Amino acid sequence: MKKVFIPLCSLCVALTVYSQSVPTTDGPTLRADNIDEVISAMTLEEKVHLVIGCGMSMGSDSKFPGTAGRTYDIPRLGIPSVYLADGPHRLAMASKREFDSHTYYATEFPSSTTVAATFDTKAAFQIGQTLGTEVKDYGMDVLLAPGVNLMRNVLCGRNHEYYAEDPVLVGKIAAAYINGVQSEGTGTCLKHFAVNNQETNRNNNDSQLTTRPLRELYLKCFEIAVKESQPWSIMTAYNKVNGKYTCEDRELTEDILREEWGFKGLVMSDWNAGKDAVASIAAGNDMLQPGQERQYNAILEAVKDGTLDENLLNISVKRVLEFVVKTHTFAGYDYPNETDLKAHAQIDRQIGAEGIVLLDNRNTLPMDGNIRQVGLYGTTSYDMIPAGMGFGSTGYGYYTVSMVEGLRNAGYTLDKGLLDSYKKHQADEQKRLFPQGRPPFSFTPLPRADEFIPTADELVAQAKVNDIAILTLGRVSGEGCDRKIEDFNLTDKESELIKKVSSAYHAAGKKLVVILNICSPIETASWKEQADAIVCAFQPGQEVGNSIVDILSGKMNPSGKLPMTFAIKYGDAPSDANFPFDYTFKMPSFAMGTGMNFKSDKKETKPQEPEQNVDYTLYEEGIYVGYRYFDTFEKEVSYPFGHGLSYTTFAYTIEEVNMNDDRCCMKVNVKNTGKTAGREVVQLYVKAPKGSMHKPSKELKAFDKTRLLNPGESQTLTLEWNVMDMASFNEQNSSWELAKGEYLWMAAASSADVRCTTTQKITKARKQKVHNAMRPQVSISVHPIVKR
Ligand code: BGC
Repeated sequence: MKKVFIPLCSLCVALTVYSQSVPTTDGPTLRADNIDEVISAMTLEEKVHLVIGCGMSMGSDSKFPGTAGRTYDIPRLGIPSVYLADGPHRLAMASKREFDSHTYYATEFPSSTTVAATFDTKAAFQIGQTLGTEVKDYGMDVLLAPGVNLMRNVLCGRNHEYYAEDPVLVGKIAAAYINGVQSEGTGTCLKHFAVNNQETNRNNNDSQLTTRPLRELYLKCFEIAVKESQPWSIMTAYNKVNGKYTCEDRELTEDILREEWGFKGLVMSDWNAGKDAVASIAAGNDMLQPGQERQYNAILEAVKDGTLDENLLNISVKRVLEFVVKTHTFAGYDYPNETDLKAHAQIDRQIGAEGIVLLDNRNTLPMDGNIRQVGLYGTTSYDMIPAGMGFGSTGYGYYTVSMVEGLRNAGYTLDKGLLDSYKKHQADEQKRLFPQGRPPFSFTPLPRADEFIPTADELVAQAKVNDIAILTLGRVSGEGCDRKIEDFNLTDKESELIKKVSSAYHAAGKKLVVILNICSPIETASWKEQADAIVCAFQPGQEVGNSIVDILSGKMNPSGKLPMTFAIKYGDAPSDANFPFDYTFKMPSFAMGTGMNFKSDKKETKPQEPEQNVDYTLYEEGIYVGYRYFDTFEKEVSYPFGHGLSYTTFAYTIEEVNMNDDRCCMKVNVKNTGKTAGREVVQLYVKAPKGSMHKPSKELKAFDKTRLLNPGESQTLTLEWNVMDMASFNEQNSSWELAKGEYLWMAAASSADVRCTTTQKITKARKQKVHNAMRPQVSISVHPIVKR
């Protein structure tokens, strides 16, 4: 294949040039209450400009270098550009600017997965609010976040930017985050709408699925977030769904999002998404970002020759202006151009620790007072991963607290000889991996150092002098490519390291704690018995080392819960077969949406037959994603959804249950029955009667988390949800159907640990008809492992 290289800067220039001309005739000045008047005073050219962005703002000549884009400005009408920057876990912008000695650092907060693992909407609100403050402090307007695509498959490269495998957890956490950001007057952009679950061929892949999983899972996350937070904007996705690009699908944007869910804001495309600009505007996709000249010309021509009704364009223009008048920039906010990085780091440390999940603990954690010296293993311990890669983040915070620093901050000492060996190993590995030096920015994950394994004699000596072994395994993923099975599995060296450290320390009567600093699950079943405790930290942000040590030392009691299932092996989940797990996809990061074909060399020599899992992906597992599958089909897992241990114990009692026509409510009293203060998450699952459709054996409908409860203390949590949330989607007649019969309500500590139950009766079946929209164009068979 001939390689086409598009340098970042030349593309930016190409995209920005056309947006320079500004008409100079007079007109009304934009206010929140004269939008229609302003639209009437606009030329057709101005209207078209307004529904197209101004190109990428990555370059050093832009007002905010390193940010994603801005809207078009029309000074004669008092319409400013408003500035859009990526999230979700960091305000993505360049921290240094040309000819400017000031620095513009932004806090690297916990990854979205880590935030979801808190199961705490207040934590999500606080992260959102702090990000909203940073955006405002640095003079920008809208954070392009959160991403709420469901974790359909463990190998999706962007899972770290998403929240969970369950739509209720995703939707509620996202809504809280959005409400947090918007409480600061900063806008959000909920993305990527919809069914965007793989990075391989992301610009062209067609997600093919039936309407039940579409409605119950993939749209549900968005529906909850939209209804509970009203984000200022929504970003359509790159992919197609059932044959149509999402940005060109009026059924998605108008029928479902606006008409059914009552969304009031702006819809924008993902960056360079879709093919047909006119179809996008006609579909109610109001703004195309970052904007291309060909899109401008196409829309202008279409209005002139009557193929696009100008009234449709006016509707989009109006939505853009309604968006503009809400912003800090429009209000003329005099921003300080700096933010309270110290205070925000503390928020990262706290919430990063709240999202840490204690997977296993055999009398090992918290580390007791006699433990002073630590043998620290694993290259990741010395090169921690604060976050994932992609536009949302460089994957490096402006600083990253390693395990070495975290342990030292808490007063532990480290095995000096071991530390020196790792220092040398890391330096050698950096030279091997990056002979030209480590790049300052990377969009996709950079290669990581190979593991270092001390000799048997060294390990015996280390086990003698150290009080405990801590070993960190790391995984990082990013935008533009998916993980491979090899990334899910441990490397031979990782397995060998765990085995050897475990034997040496156990022989000396000492323990091994394994830390997972990972983007998404890895294989744990084959080695977990060799560790005495396993702590899954995901990616807690720049304070990563401190957050983890706060848990290990017992300064904080773990209260995180898994937002996804840890399967025993890749292949266990039904979506595993329908995912590009072994496909090498080549897409230069800035070549998205240019219409070029970047499929791998090997495959491109074949005739252009649509390739399964690359050009299209079949969602044959239907609704059986994550625990909905493992639980219903009684398939063994390594760690179930919702699992997470504590240093204390809790007892649950149902205090009150009621249901009226609209709402369900269960009050659960949680008592700390152990000896350590701690917080507990209560998960409310429902098992619905079969009715005319097959049903999962449980589905999460609500969750809540206690405050810090002292030993003996208790708190009553009120879990509430809608009666119709217990309905299933009937594909035959496009309706939500609530079957009559007995519903089992379960208060649980995880999807596999139900603590108390009650049965409630629905005496009259109910039906709620919705649009018969987004139906598959091909027949989608049911995957054999979910056939009942
Ligand atoms: C990503 C979006 C992001 C946009 C702007 C795209 O590649 O998919 O999530 O907001 O770029 O940076």
